[in-house]
Amino acid sequence: MTTYKEVYEGWRADPEGFWVEAAKAIDWTTPPTRALDDANAPFYRWYADGECNTCWNAVDRHVEAGHGDRVAIIHDSPITHSKHEITYAELRDRVASLAGALRAKGVEKGDRVIIYMPMVPEALEAMLACARIGAVHSVVFGGFAAHELAVRIDDATPKAIIAASCGLEPGRVVHYKPLVEAAIEQSKHKPDFCVIFQREQEVAKLIEGRDHDWHAFQYGTEPAECVPVGGADPLYILYTSGTTGQPKGVVRPNAGHMVALLWTMKNIYGVEAGDVYWAASDVGWVVGHSYIAYAPLLAGCTTIVFEGKPVGTPDAGTFWRVISEHGVKVLFTAPTAFRAIKREDPKGEFVGKYDLSCLKTLFLAGERADPPTIEWAQKQLKVPVIDHWWQTETGYAIAANPVGLEMLPVKLGSPTVPMPGYDVQILDEAGHPLPAGTLGAIAVKLPLPPGTLPTLWNADDRFKKSYLTTFPGYYETGDAGMMDEDGYLYIMARTDDVINVAGHRLSTGAMEEVLASHQDVAECAVIGVADELKGQLPMGFLCLNAGCNRPHDEIVRECVALVRNEIGPVAAFKLAVVVPRLPKTRTGKILRGTMSRIADGESFKMPATIDDPAILDEVKEAVGTLGYPSQA
Ligand code: COA
Ligand code: AMP
Repeated sequence: MTTYKEVYEGWRADPEGFWVEAAKAIDWTTPPTRALDDANAPFYRWYADGECNTCWNAVDRHVEAGHGDRVAIIHDSPITHSKHEITYAELRDRVASLAGALRAKGVEKGDRVIIYMPMVPEALEAMLACARIGAVHSVVFGGFAAHELAVRIDDATPKAIIAASCGLEPGRVVHYKPLVEAAIEQSKHKPDFCVIFQREQEVAKLIEGRDHDWHAFQYGTEPAECVPVGGADPLYILYTSGTTGQPKGVVRPNAGHMVALLWTMKNIYGVEAGDVYWAASDVGWVVGHSYIAYAPLLAGCTTIVFEGKPVGTPDAGTFWRVISEHGVKVLFTAPTAFRAIKREDPKGEFVGKYDLSCLKTLFLAGERADPPTIEWAQKQLKVPVIDHWWQTETGYAIAANPVGLEMLPVKLGSPTVPMPGYDVQILDEAGHPLPAGTLGAIAVKLPLPPGTLPTLWNADDRFKKSYLTTFPGYYETGDAGMMDEDGYLYIMARTDDVINVAGHRLSTGAMEEVLASHQDVAECAVIGVADELKGQLPMGFLCLNAGCNRPHDEIVRECVALVRNEIGPVAAFKLAVVVPRLPKTRTGKILRGTMSRIADGESFKMPATIDDPAILDEVKEAVGTLGYPSQA
C-alpha cells in the first residue's frame, strides 16, 4: 500500500513528474508536453500547451464509455417536496442543447456568462453549457443583493446572464428577476441578453428582445459539441470577499482544475465512479463549484443537488433522510450545519430513524471545525469525521486527511496535513519559518499546484499585492495558525478583515463601506463576534455626524436594512450600536482586534499605541447593550 508520506515525498522530489502522471486521468484533445509553465512567474500556468474540454470530461466521456444510464444528478428539494434524477445521457443532451442555443446567440470561447440561480440542476447545466463552448461562467450566490450582482457584472462584463425566476428560502420566495433588473440598471456594462429559467413558484416577466425563456430559447437550435480549449484557459471566475467592497475575481483554469479535482476524489474522499457524493453547500460558493458540480461528475459519481437547510426543511432529520434514501457514501458540509442539527436534536433522535450504513465518511470545511461538533458527529454517525482546510483561491483542500489514500490518525482541531502540491510553512512577520508549535502566518511556497488561481480576473497587480507581496516567494493564505511536530496544521484565525458567518466568507470592510454611506454615519467599524451557531456574526459600531439628534434605534434599523439591501441577507448583519467614538491607535488605525476580544469577553492586552484607553470602556458598555459578551 502506498502511504501519504510516500506520495507527499514523491511529489516533493519530482513535482513535474507527479503532475504529468496525474494528468493522465483526464481526456485531452491535445496532451500537454509538460505540466508547469513558469516563463511568466509569478503567474504560473499548468498544462498550458495541452487542449481539453471540461464538459467532455465531466459528461460526454462517461456516456461514450457506456455509462449513459448512470444517474449524474439527483435533485432533492424538501422545499418544493420534489425529487428527480438526471442520467449522464440526459445531462449531455440538455447541456449540448443549452450550449448550442448560447452559441447561436453569439456566445463564444472566452466570453463571460453570469449565472444567478438557486439549487436546481439547471444551475449545473448552465455551468457545463458554458464549459462546453469554452465560455467563462461566473456564478453569483443567490443570497447576494442587486448591488453585489452589479459589481460582478461590471467586473466580468458578461455577454449573457442566465438566471432563475426565483429562489426558495424557507417561508420566503427570493425574487431573482427584480434583483437581476436592479443589477443591470446599476451596472455600467449591460449584457446582450438574459436567459430565464421560469420556476412554477414564480413566473417572471420577460423583457421583449432581451430576455429569453430557458426552454423557448433552445427550441430549434443545433446542439453544440465540446470545443477544445487551452489547458490554462479560464473555466470560471468566482468572486470572493477581500478587504474592500470590490470582490476578488478568482480565476479557475480548465485543465489543472480537472486534474487536481480528480486526484482529490480518489485520494482524499475515497470515492469512485458510481458512488453517490453529496456536498451540502450551494453552487454559489467554491464548495459548490468543486464538489457539487465538477468533481463528482468528473469522477463519474452521482451528485446531489439539495435545495433545503439542515434544519426546518422539515426537521433536523433531513440530512439523514437524504443520505439513506439516495445511498450517499460521502457527505461534505460546513460545521455550522452540524451545529444547527445538534442544537435542534442534541440526542440524535432523528439519526436513529434512518439506515445510514451507506455513509462512510463525513468531511467538514469552510470554517474551523470545533471539537465538540466533531465529537457529536462522530458519536452520532459512527464514521470518520474529517476536517479539511481550503479556500476559494485554491479550489480544493490545502490540508486534509487523505482517507482514500491512507487514513491518518485524527487530531481534533486540526485539518491534518498538507496535500501534495502544497509546501505549507508557518512564517513570522519577517517571513522566517517558525518552529513547530509556534503561531504565525500560514503561507504556501510558490508555485501553487494545478487548479489554484493563476491570477485575479483583470487584476494582475491586485493578485500580486493581495497574495504574493508580504512573503516573497510564497502565497499568503490570509490565515494564521501553526504546525505541530507531526506536521499537522492548526488553522486559528484570519489575518485580515475577512469573517466567516455560517461557513460564508464575508468582508467586514465591505460592510463598513455600506454603513459609511448612511447620511448620519460619520465613521464606523465592523468586527466579527463569536456565535455558537454561525461561528461568527458581524457587529457594527456607528459614530454619528456632529449635530445628528435622530433616535439611535431608528438609525441602527436603517443601517441594518442598508447592509441587507446592498450586500444581501447572507451578510446576517443584525447587530449594530451607536458609540460616541471608536478606539484607535495614535496613527488613526481602528483597534478592531481589541474590540472583538471585548465583545467575546476575552482578556486583551491594552494596546500600547491606543490614543485614549477610556474608549475601551465605552466599547464594553456598547456591546453590553447588545447582550455581549454572550453567556453561551
Ligand atoms: N438565496 C437567498 N437568500 C439566502 C440564501 C440564498 N441562496 N442563502 C441564505 N439566504 C438568506 C437566509 O434566508 C437568511 O435570511 P434571513 O435573514 O431573512 O433569515 C440569511 O440569508 C442568512 O442565511 P444563513 O446564514 O444561511 O442563515 P440561516 O439562518 O438561514 O441558516 C444554517 C443557518 C446554519 C442552517 C445555514 O447557514 C446552513 O445550512 N449553512 C450550511 C453551510 C454552508 O452551506 N456553507 C457553504 C460553504 S461549505
Ligand atoms: P472560502 O474562500 O469561502 O472557502 O473561505 C476560506 C477561509 O475559510 C479560509 O481562509 C479559512 O479562514 C476558513 N476555513 C476554511 N476551511 C477551514 C477549516 N477546515 N478550518 C479552519 N478554517 C477554515
